[in-house]
Amino acid sequence: MSRRYRVAIVGAGIGAQHVTGYAANPDLYEIAIICDRDVARATALAATCGAAVHADYDEALLARTDIDIIDICLPPFLHFDAVRRALEAGKHVICEKPLCGSVAEADALAEIAARTGRVLMPIFQVRFGNGMAKARHLAATGALGKVFMATVETHWSRGADYYAIKWRGTKAYELGGAFLGHAIHAHDMLTTLLGPIKSVSGATAIRVNPIETEDCGGALLEMQSGALAMVSVTLGSANEFTRTRIMTENVTIESAGEVYMSSKEPWHFLPRAPKDQAWLDAALAGAPCGKEGFDGQLALLHAALQTGAAPPVTVAEARQSLELVTAIYHSARTGMRVELPITQAHPAYQSWG
Ligand SMILES: NC(=O)c1ccc[n+]([C@@H]2O[C@H](COP(=O)([O-])OP(=O)(O)OC[C@H]3O[C@@H](n4cnc5c(N)ncnc54)[C@H](O)[C@@H]3O)[C@@H](O)[C@H]2O)c1
Repeated sequence: MSRRYRVAIVGAGIGAQHVTGYAANPDLYEIAIICDRDVARATALAATCGAAVHADYDEALLARTDIDIIDICLPPFLHFDAVRRALEAGKHVICEKPLCGSVAEADALAEIAARTGRVLMPIFQVRFGNGMAKARHLAATGALGKVFMATVETHWSRGADYYAIKWRGTKAYELGGAFLGHAIHAHDMLTTLLGPIKSVSGATAIRVNPIETEDCGGALLEMQSGALAMVSVTLGSANEFTRTRIMTENVTIESAGEVYMSSKEPWHFLPRAPKDQAWLDAALAGAPCGKEGFDGQLALLHAALQTGAAPPVTVAEARQSLELVTAIYHSARTGMRVELPITQAHPAYQSWG
């Protein structure tokens, strides 16, 4: 019989959207605790889901034996330690993006999860949309053929109101800028579809807001397959969209441009001659569409916990996202093209800062 897992959500900002994701899966999860040192914020969120309130992320919370999963929705600089402590307390752990503050920390967390035998699932909920599911189906079945070129545009708008939350826009607390905090979802989707990256040339700039971390940037990616990808991010666009285009031997794919859930339908799939619409319709048949966003990622996690399979987002995939950020920042700083993977020997392995 399917087990219902009891969850403590730590951090009541984006934690509110996690609540919605668990609530969409009521047979799979029970939200037992909302933890936030801003007790009024925790109390307001707990009232929406019938959870108890805990004031601080401390040993008393971690020592509870009636909690199966700790879901970390804290500011980025707290992630590594919060995840480490929860794993070592014997909990399964979910953690918001970015998983941690360096490739070295990602490797350390993978080691701790393996040692403790607990599941650590990074959040990349944007990946779970039905337009993206169709593109993944084409990639998984070989229907894309040879991939030529991709472009990814994360063109959003952020101003002083957004940066009123003090950790944002700071190197010490947010740990990075638009590549780490905003474009990370669209770039996760890119590598999910196109596979590993071979090399990166990047540039970053602070042009939009008076902050410490980049709010504009671009990078040229050479994929291991030989395909190329151009990615751009800005937080100073008058109209906001996130758009992925992938040009392959058999098909051109374009996402709808939806800002945050850019994986949602409608994605456009155009057959490229000599392939035709009938071929494309057949190739798209059977794409596993289902629950989207947090609802979808959390439902798939439950299935993985039941069977012992890998979670729907792995630490290795979060490491890959952090490798890309590391490579872009290192390239921007040195003017050099950076080869991946980022190993222990790389000067930016311990810190991209
Ligand atoms: N997946 C997404 O699409 C998405 C969207 C937004 C934010 N995020 C990520 O979620 C994380 C949180 O972002 P946010 O916008 O919700 O931030 P936030 O500042 O709004 O919320 C963080 C909360 O953590 C609480 N907190 C801090 N230290 C604590 C402690 N020691 N114990 C208990 N509570 C503590 C704060 O009081 C605050 O309420 C970040 O890593 C961010 O990158 C992800």
